[in-house]
Amino acid sequence: MTQQVGELNPPYRLMLTPGPSSVDPRVYRALAAPLVGHLDPWFKTCMDETQILLRQIFQTANRLTMPLSASGSGGIEASVLNALEEGDEAIVAVNGVFSDRMYEIASRATTKVIKVEAPYGLPVDAEDVRRAGKGKKIKMIGLAQGETSSGVLTKLEAYRKVADEMGALLVVDTVASLAAVPLHVDRERIDICFSGSQKAISAPPGMSPITVSTAAEEVFRKRKTKVQSWYFDLTTAMNYWGKERLYHHTPPISLIYALREAMRIVVEEGLEARWERHRVNQQALIAGVEAMGMGLLVKNPADRLPTVTAVMIPNGIDDVKVRNQLLGEFNIEIAGGFGPVKGKIWRVGLMGYCSQKPFVLLFLSAMEKVLQDQGYRAPAGAGVAAAIQSYSHAETAAAVSR
Ligand SMILES: Cc1ncc(COP(=O)(O)O)c(C=O)c1O
Repeated sequence: MTQQVGELNPPYRLMLTPGPSSVDPRVYRALAAPLVGHLDPWFKTCMDETQILLRQIFQTANRLTMPLSASGSGGIEASVLNALEEGDEAIVAVNGVFSDRMYEIASRATTKVIKVEAPYGLPVDAEDVRRAGKGKKIKMIGLAQGETSSGVLTKLEAYRKVADEMGALLVVDTVASLAAVPLHVDRERIDICFSGSQKAISAPPGMSPITVSTAAEEVFRKRKTKVQSWYFDLTTAMNYWGKERLYHHTPPISLIYALREAMRIVVEEGLEARWERHRVNQQALIAGVEAMGMGLLVKNPADRLPTVTAVMIPNGIDDVKVRNQLLGEFNIEIAGGFGPVKGKIWRVGLMGYCSQKPFVLLFLSAMEKVLQDQGYRAPAGAGVAAAIQSYSHAETAAAVSR
């Protein structure tokens, strides 16, 4: 049986999803660079540079800072499995699918994990975490700074205070927020912070940057039992990413090239400028969708995650038909909802390379056409007009503050 398989020829999509985001052409070029061995002296320098960039983006001097050879879920596994042993008590703040994944993984490490919940669209109140931990010896508090399933941003300050009171490690998932939302790992004293390469950093999926404080390293050293996962045991993985550069596993070399180049782009832009760009583009998107008569899942503007906007699907409009038409007619991919908000929201991602004015304006006009075809009536051009006005306000404000 001979079956012909054609040459690889993927379509060019604009990925306005909650990840992966589209990538800069420079990142594609890095992916195509010649392979070298993972112990090649040249590659060791490339690793040093990757770690320098990671520390700049995490805003940390942590020794243990590296990209794990894994997607963002690997970052959760590594953080939680290194922090916890059977019998340890921990709290995970859950307000969506990804924070619930951290709870699920923590529950596999120890049976004493408390889930403190908030409904989709809200952050978990740190006060509820304080109450849940009263009288207990909590070793770790975990949360997602950006909960991608609902588009909610959680502020970290109150969590740090609660973790200090309990003497607990603070573990923060920044898969959907790193390089898009203000974050200072050292200043905010986050003990373990991890992310994903494919979101606001805009590299391909497959790497999970992670950084660990000296306090957390000390906790790792005092473990009574081995970390359940050999692959994600951070102490041994660091033999490769640390001074020794000893073989641990063969890392995805081309993905490291791509991550390095994507991070160079982040640093060239500047973190503050990048955070502001994400804020301004989300503001314009929100102005546009609201002018088209659609609502948002996250009611409080201060709780909105700049990278993911959860738009309520208007009554009578078919979720899947709209997404299919956007993809088929405009090559634009957006995402639907998960779990309790399945069929109720669209999640529009403006992350890294995709958080751009032309893409926001293109999306709003494409959406007007698609919604009109599905029988939804919005005032003609209202979305784009409102977004343009939002951009003008932002430009005026920026000029005044200069
Ligand atoms: C906040 C958050 N955490 C964890 C993950 C899991 O990452 P991955 O799908 O790369 O394993 C995601 C993925 O969307 C996410 O958004």
